[in-house]
Amino acid sequence: MDISELMWVEKYRPKRIDEIVNQKDVVTSAKKIVADATEMPHLLFVGPAGVGKTTLALCLARELLGENWRDNTLELNASDERGINMIREKVKMFARFTSVQNVPFKIIILDESDEMTNDAQTALRRIMEDTSRTTRFILICNYLSKIIEPIQSRCVIFRFKPLEKNDIISHLEKICKKEDIKYDNKALEEIYEFTEGDLRHSINILQAAATLGYVNTSNVKSIIGVSDKKKVKEVLLLALSGKFTDARNKLIELVRVYGLSESDFLKLANEELQSIHEPKLIERLAEYDYRLAVGAHADIQLAAFLAEIAKIGKDINFDISKYSKDG
Ligand SMILES: Nc1ncnc2c1ncn2[C@@H]1O[C@H](COP(=O)(O)OP(=O)(O)O)[C@@H](O)[C@H]1O
Ligand SMILES: [Mg+2]
Repeated sequence: MDISELMWVEKYRPKRIDEIVNQKDVVTSAKKIVADATEMPHLLFVGPAGVGKTTLALCLARELLGENWRDNTLELNASDERGINMIREKVKMFARFTSVQNVPFKIIILDESDEMTNDAQTALRRIMEDTSRTTRFILICNYLSKIIEPIQSRCVIFRFKPLEKNDIISHLEKICKKEDIKYDNKALEEIYEFTEGDLRHSINILQAAATLGYVNTSNVKSIIGVSDKKKVKEVLLLALSGKFTDARNKLIELVRVYGLSESDFLKLANEELQSIHEPKLIERLAEYDYRLAVGAHADIQLAAFLAEIAKIGKDINFDISKYSKDG
């Protein structure tokens, strides 16, 4: 099955602007842009995590560019793409390749723009100017104050808000009904209290709780109570004790259902592995961290990483009884 079917956050990601929950102000502005596409300015989306920024950017691309939107939309992540030079190259190539399709312009979505240094942002501003005849940027960030003024002044700013309790609860209810999952309202409230208006996180907790059979408060509590760190530890311990397949399945669940990023997995793995004084483990970790940084396929790399951990566990006769205690 496709990942987008497995993960409810993807399965239920709105395809059209009209399906976006709340965010009334930005939705109204977005619709105006669609109504008069030739005048589209660069956009700067600001707001907390999991409230619809990327979703609206993709909906806009779809509605502005029509059926060939995918070919004419470039999605970049400012913190993943190493450095402004990489971004410049990608943007140049993308802007240059003249489209045979009938679109007014191409769209570049640049996520986590506020992770860029000021120098990089200055360079970005120049790139935006150089390509402005053929492309429009949608910059996404959490904090407006981290974006340099010359960029701010060239964009129309869209402010996203945390979603409200009613929005979150009724959205979760809808998903439960579509998935035919049993749920208690109290449990959905519990999810809202914990995620504070982050709908992505809410849906991920819902899905994880649903895998326990019933979305009630005790299942929600047990999902919330297990920290990412503990889950990563569980994966590592499985691998070290030679249970490669179990470790890999657990890892896939962590990434797909709980939404942990692969690089965060390695960061937490690093913290965990410090307590096992085995230099080989850290050495391997560093190698795989590097591979992910240069853009290797994360699924494959992490599976290989676990396979190596399993092998090292065997070589050092790893004794699980020393490490399985909490902490
Ligand atoms: N306003 C919203 N309306 C509908 N779904 C949303 C909304 N915000 C978040 N979601 C859900 O959460 C997921 C992540 O949202 P996304 O737009 O990527 O958040 P971010 O603001 O971090 O970019 C979406 O795939 C969707 O399932
Ligand atoms: Mg996003």
